[in-house]
Amino acid sequence: MKGIILAGGAGSRLYPVSKVYSKQLTLIYDKPLIYYPLSILMLSNIREILIISNEETIPLYQKLFDDGSDFGVRIEYALQTAPNGIAESFILGEKFIGNDGATLILGDNIFYGNIDFIYRAIQKNEGATIFGYRVNDPERYGIVEFDENGKAVSIEEKPKNPRSNFAVPGLYVYDNEVVSIAKNIKPSARGELEITDVNNVYLKKGMLNVEKIGRGVAWLDTGTPESLLQASNFFGVIEDRQGLKVACIEEIAFHKGFISKDDFKKLISKIPNSLYKTYLEKVLKEN
Ligand code: G1P
Repeated sequence: MKGIILAGGAGSRLYPVSKVYSKQLTLIYDKPLIYYPLSILMLSNIREILIISNEETIPLYQKLFDDGSDFGVRIEYALQTAPNGIAESFILGEKFIGNDGATLILGDNIFYGNIDFIYRAIQKNEGATIFGYRVNDPERYGIVEFDENGKAVSIEEKPKNPRSNFAVPGLYVYDNEVVSIAKNIKPSARGELEITDVNNVYLKKGMLNVEKIGRGVAWLDTGTPESLLQASNFFGVIEDRQGLKVACIEEIAFHKGFISKDDFKKLISKIPNSLYKTYLEKVLKEN
């Protein structure tokens, strides 16, 4: 299973920061936003990852992650020249995906809690698995409607009159068919290749699983200054209480055995003196 992080986008709701760098590089409490979706892929044992972004931002991600080998993963980069839609990821990533399935996570989507639901979907790797998460503001998302047996019957992109409160988070697990499906859909009225259209193709073929995610999992939004502050506060509270970091990709690489203890030591030695380094030293000492 390959992993894709789509991390481009104008992020204009975050102006003036968006004038300089992409929103996925803004701090959520103590680390860049993109660490959170990357950690989800790593925790799901996905180690081949494609980051898709624009021309200005790719060099910044390269500075942050290089080829991923420090974290025991392989990271490639692909250019999206214009915001042509989420589904374009599979066209840009065709060669990278090869004959495998692809799990796509949006670079601004944060999940926290028991993420076994992702692992189960990846193990299945048949058709498509997407998720449904109850939200208060359904008109902002792709919305899935369920029948009385809990079966998904429709998915609509940002409906004016939502048929349910279940939003589809930006995390999608597909089999290899997704590449040809993405190539065959047409741009929507807003000129984008919509991920909802891809999901609707799977739905029509009877190959779409929609799993509800329970309230014990947090799916956080990060599009606005308020939501960035909320997410920062959320992780600040948890990290301060436990003395453990969330989405610390260096720690995850070590705990998962993606890198050896020696590699972990080397990695730490390259980090300038900081609270982040002190934390990693503590992890090393305790293990
Ligand atoms: C996109 C998708 C939408 C999904 C959302 C999740 O919306 O089009 O279906 O619910 O991500 O974050 P966008 O962020 O492009 O508005």
